[in-house]
Amino acid sequence: MNTLSDDFYYKKAKYSGFRSRASYKLLELNDKFKFLKRNQFVVDLGAAPGGWTQVAAKKIGKEGTVLAIDKAYIEPFKENNVIILHADIFNAKLATEITKTYGLVDVLISDCAPNISGQYSKDHSIQSMLVQRALELAKDILRNDGSFACKLFQGSETQDIIKEAKETFVVVKLYKPKASRKRSSEIYLFGSQLKGGE
Ligand SMILES: C[S@@+](CC[C@H](N)C(=O)[O-])C[C@H]1O[C@@H](n2cnc3c(N)ncnc32)[C@H](O)[C@@H]1O
Repeated sequence: MNTLSDDFYYKKAKYSGFRSRASYKLLELNDKFKFLKRNQFVVDLGAAPGGWTQVAAKKIGKEGTVLAIDKAYIEPFKENNVIILHADIFNAKLATEITKTYGLVDVLISDCAPNISGQYSKDHSIQSMLVQRALELAKDILRNDGSFACKLFQGSETQDIIKEAKETFVVVKLYKPKASRKRSSEIYLFGSQLKGGE
């Protein structure tokens, strides 16, 4: 059953023209960690229907670009600084395709999640693979001083993921935005500055 606050963010998103209530989670993450800046190149993994993409597109401005990637269909955006790529993030050629076409990425964001089966351990395990893939892509496509923000479903694999994130980034923080339902196991991981970078 929806709580009052779920309804609040849903209505707020509709009123503001955001495609999903998830937009507010990215807005909060960005208020906290301040990683979206003018003119950046942002890659948004698991972007459909496009709430995060809309927020990122606004923050980076006309001179920036958001590459919105999802295996599901994404309705075209009215914003001119968004490119849609219909792809599975596990596609082995994805990193090369991105860097060859657009160069290195300033910010990698991922709100990827599987279709929820209702079997928590299965959903957690699939979602953890999506996070691990996002971390792998970060190493391949992010600038050394780039930023990363990614959804996690908390569970048995979370500590391993945090460890991997700490091996990947100098700065690693966890954050639960207010717009994320309290009963939801989701939490967001922020990372910045690739380790081993100059
Ligand atoms: C919670 S939704 C994202 C919501 C989005 N951030 C927004 O603000 O509108 C999760 C998305 O992850 C996508 N996804 C899951 N697995 C994927 C994969 N292997 N490759 C690409 N997209 C994937 C789903 O298709 C779904 O659209």
